[in-house]
Amino acid sequence: MEQLYSQQAIARQTARIGAQISRDYTGQHLVLVVVLKGAMFFAADLARAISSDVEISIDFVRVSSYANATQSSGTVTFKTRLETDISGKHVMLVEDILDTGLTMRELHNYLEKQQPASLKLCTMFDKPCNRAVEITPDYCGFTLTGNDFIIGYGLDYAERYRNLNAVYRLDPEQLQH
Ligand code: XMP
Ligand code: MG
Repeated sequence: MEQLYSQQAIARQTARIGAQISRDYTGQHLVLVVVLKGAMFFAADLARAISSDVEISIDFVRVSSYANATQSSGTVTFKTRLETDISGKHVMLVEDILDTGLTMRELHNYLEKQQPASLKLCTMFDKPCNRAVEITPDYCGFTLTGNDFIIGYGLDYAERYRNLNAVYRLDPEQLQH
């Protein structure tokens, strides 16, 4: 497996996004809506990179669109819904990776219906080459230029590799459909 993003590079980007969010939301309350399971590692680091001048609360949604494959199925199933009443609140969706955008569009619609004061999208990785819907992250760590399937730092292949500290490209021969 080839390492694409080191632990240090990931930490630098997380700190940068945290600082940006700290500036943009100073004195406000922000609800981080973390998309399980992949984004939990990034969200835990990001939340701690946001200054105490921003009041944070955290909630989770769990969706599945991939099963164990590496291609988006295009349908999103909600496995866990939000507990927090987000109406009138500033909300940020926190994702591990934005690929086709189908997951994010569904989540965006689901949250928008609950009438938050604002709704922004933060993702550690953006893979725009497969985009099926028009969607751009407001905060982003890294943009992937190719169509690599990446693992580590929360990202899995069939539930494996989430615990790796760095992010790697999954070798095509490791893929089985
Ligand atoms: P869509 O296509 O709906 O997909 O934007 C977003 C979800 O798909 C997963 N995904 C990946 N997971 N390595 C992964 O481990 C990847 O390269 C990758 N690309 C997409 C991910 O769960 C994300 O939430
Ligand atoms: Mg996944």
